Amino acid sequence: MKTETTINGLRGALRAARKAGKSIAFVPTMGNLHDGHITLVKAAKRRADVVVASIFVNPTQFGVNEDFDKYPRTLPADSALLADADCDLLFAPDAREMYPDGRSQHTSVSVSGITDVLCGASRPGHFTGVATVVCKLFNIVQPDMALFGEKDYQQLAVIRCMARELCFPVEVIGVPTVRADDGLALSSRNGFLSADERQQAPLIFQTLSNLRSAIESGQRDYTMLAQAARSHLDKCGFVTDYLDIRRQDLVDAGPDDKALVILVAARLGATRLIDNLAFELA
Ligand code: PAJ
Repeated sequence: MKTETTINGLRGALRAARKAGKSIAFVPTMGNLHDGHITLVKAAKRRADVVVASIFVNPTQFGVNEDFDKYPRTLPADSALLADADCDLLFAPDAREMYPDGRSQHTSVSVSGITDVLCGASRPGHFTGVATVVCKLFNIVQPDMALFGEKDYQQLAVIRCMARELCFPVEVIGVPTVRADDGLALSSRNGFLSADERQQAPLIFQTLSNLRSAIESGQRDYTMLAQAARSHLDKCGFVTDYLDIRRQDLVDAGPDDKALVILVAARLGATRLIDNLAFELA
């Protein structure tokens, strides 16, 4: 696997493949890679001739009091994992390469509507940072397809919307969430959990699964169901940021909707965890 840290280097490394008509798949990440990320790389490898992964802890998607400084940076271990997964090219730029004008960059990409709710409401500016950096990365890599995890459900919706509306010739592919045996969605932030918190954390997915069963068995008072689930999480030591039952396009769900998703964000100590469960009613 080749590693490039500059935009010119990356473009040069892809020139021959592009000229030869090879298909290019792209997996953007912020590093500290785990099986969730590697699953994306392997899925990319099955679909394309050349796989490019990026590692960049994007400052513009972190709020002022968020964990940008302590976000784990583990490049050597990440490179080894990517090479093992047959990734062809790693793009690992620094902040100056990605944001030559620094914080005073004048151009940003903001996706309205679906970013007003959920993580968009609790993390103002977050999705503008995500959409802006993914837009830049798409322009740098110019992939045929890009793969994103369904774990970040709203992020995937934002990127699909941006790619469609800004006419990127990039197929955006969602990959199912990879979980630990006890159901906890893998996340770079799980490493912040204490041993006790790690024991408690699977309650998030258990709560989602119980709600799904309740809905499948005919319960339709979504406001009441969500409120009860929030209270339960809070009683068990979480601070629930949101827990919502929505349509899969993220509009509030009504009793006749069939394609549903339950989304949750909850803090356990200082660590904010998110998860979701999408399903269809018969
Ligand atoms: P990061 O959190 O590193 O995640 C990179 C990709 O891995 C995202 O598409 C995310 O949804 C996916 N992913 C994370 N955990 C997963 C899991 N348990 N199962 C499946 N996929 C998982 O998301 C970002 O980085 C950034 O916002 C980024 C898109 C790179 C823009 O900076």
